[in-house]
Amino acid sequence: MYQTLLTELEQGILTVTVNRPDKLNALNRSVFDDLNALMDQVDTDPAIRGVILTGSGPKAFVAGADISEFTQLSKEEAMALAKRGQDCFFRLERSRKPIIAAVNGFALGGGCELAMSCHIRLASENARFGQPEINLGLIPGYGGTQRLTQLIGKGRAMELMMSGNMLNAADAHRVGLVNHVFTADTLLEESKKLLTTILSKGPNAVGRVIAAVNASGTPDEAGYKEEVRLFGECFATPEMQEGVGAFLEKRTPKFS
Ligand code: COA
Repeated sequence: MYQTLLTELEQGILTVTVNRPDKLNALNRSVFDDLNALMDQVDTDPAIRGVILTGSGPKAFVAGADISEFTQLSKEEAMALAKRGQDCFFRLERSRKPIIAAVNGFALGGGCELAMSCHIRLASENARFGQPEINLGLIPGYGGTQRLTQLIGKGRAMELMMSGNMLNAADAHRVGLVNHVFTADTLLEESKKLLTTILSKGPNAVGRVIAAVNASGTPDEAGYKEEVRLFGECFATPEMQEGVGAFLEKRTPKFS
């Protein structure tokens, strides 16, 4: 049914695995098509009562947007790419069915943004979080500048996004980016346990908690729109050419 997602439905819990392990589950066009189709299914199928989202393989949840799709994009095309990502992640964030990210390795760039659009994040001990777009001469474009700031505060968000540094699981827990840390082999089981507790409550009230908490964010989406504009601007710069070129050529970028 999906090209890039594996799904398994058990007792109302749909476990969804992003499945591109050879590319550390990077988000390409197919993954976004699949995530949108997934949300159609989640929204309409009464057998699905909650979702756990994880990544394939032992190394990564999702290591970011697929950088190979960033070459040759005009500013307008880049803005459309960011808007597509934001719109997809809004669908997860605004779902009235609870979605838990079970972060089992690298959650970088678009992967961190995907995890942040889920309602709750749980992590394995080997999880690593970050917004390393700056190493590409870029900024986050899928809502990261907004949600990271909401979740961990302005100063910490600025530091992560300007330095490109990663947080390990313990630090991500300390700053509130993840709720709990488990061993890698118990992460899914613990995620199901928490989701089962949530699913034992009234689903309408749970959905209304999600809607009410989301209403505390940025209702007019001005910050998200500004992120799209600034992300697009990056694509007209030599910095971005150098950063993305260096990643694809497996060398360290040189910014002047
Ligand atoms: N987009 C496209 N391909 C990616 C990717 C991404 N975001 N992240 C990893 N990959 C690919 C690598 O190019 C490599 O492909 P190859 O085997 O065909 O060369 C494969 O996944 C494995 O990654 P590799 O870099 O060899 O693993 P590693 O353990 O040495 O490093 C990371 C892991 C996560 C540190 C490194 O892959 C990385 O920095 N990825 C990009 C992170 C990023 O900048 N994300 C934000 C994007 S906006």
